[in-house]
Amino acid sequence: MKKGLFITFEGVDGCGKTTQINLLKDYYEKQGRTVLLTREPGAKGLGVKLREILLNYDGEVSPNCESFLFLADRAQHIDTIIKPAVERGEIVLCDRHTDSTVAYQGYGRGVDLDRINMLNNIATSGMKPDLTLIFDIDTDTSMARVGKEKDRMESAGIEFFKKVRNGYLDIAKNEPQRVKLLDGNKSIEEIHNQVLDIIKSI
Ligand code: TYD
Repeated sequence: MKKGLFITFEGVDGCGKTTQINLLKDYYEKQGRTVLLTREPGAKGLGVKLREILLNYDGEVSPNCESFLFLADRAQHIDTIIKPAVERGEIVLCDRHTDSTVAYQGYGRGVDLDRINMLNNIATSGMKPDLTLIFDIDTDTSMARVGKEKDRMESAGIEFFKKVRNGYLDIAKNEPQRVKLLDGNKSIEEIHNQVLDIIKSI
């Protein structure tokens, strides 16, 4: 059996990671690998209900509560979807994971970073991605790509997104082994080629 792999894709809203996930999925499938494409929040079942609250609830949500809802989704996702697939030898490509909570709830909302790291560790039972790709774009580009129709998170404003972006830059600096930073302003093809260079080196 081939070894399973867990790769996460991160970045501010509109950074282009979804396009890159799909290109990488095609690449691995052409190599004969089984790929599980998944996302947070809300991959399946209970997660879909949590996603609905997280993105559309229009009442007050405290930063702590928001963190716990993302973490609850993550615990279910790791236990019922990600871990079993990696154990079956599949390639799991996940659109957002632990670093989103560090960047959005930690840097963005101001929840204590040590607390988030500890809770992420509990939610994942210590399972870490083999590789994380962060697609970096400036916040003006992010806002322009998101457009006028915004969900609850996207409505948080440009200052919030500047903090989130800085969070991602710090994560990449702090964990250069696991995390690779890519310039999301380059063309889709150029970025895809960089992604391929990275995955061939792991
Ligand atoms: P989604 O529509 O999936 O956005 P995108 O296509 O940009 O990934 O919405 C997910 C939103 O939830 C996005 O704004 C980031 C946010 N988020 C957090 O704030 N914390 C988290 O832990 C996760 C997983 C996502």
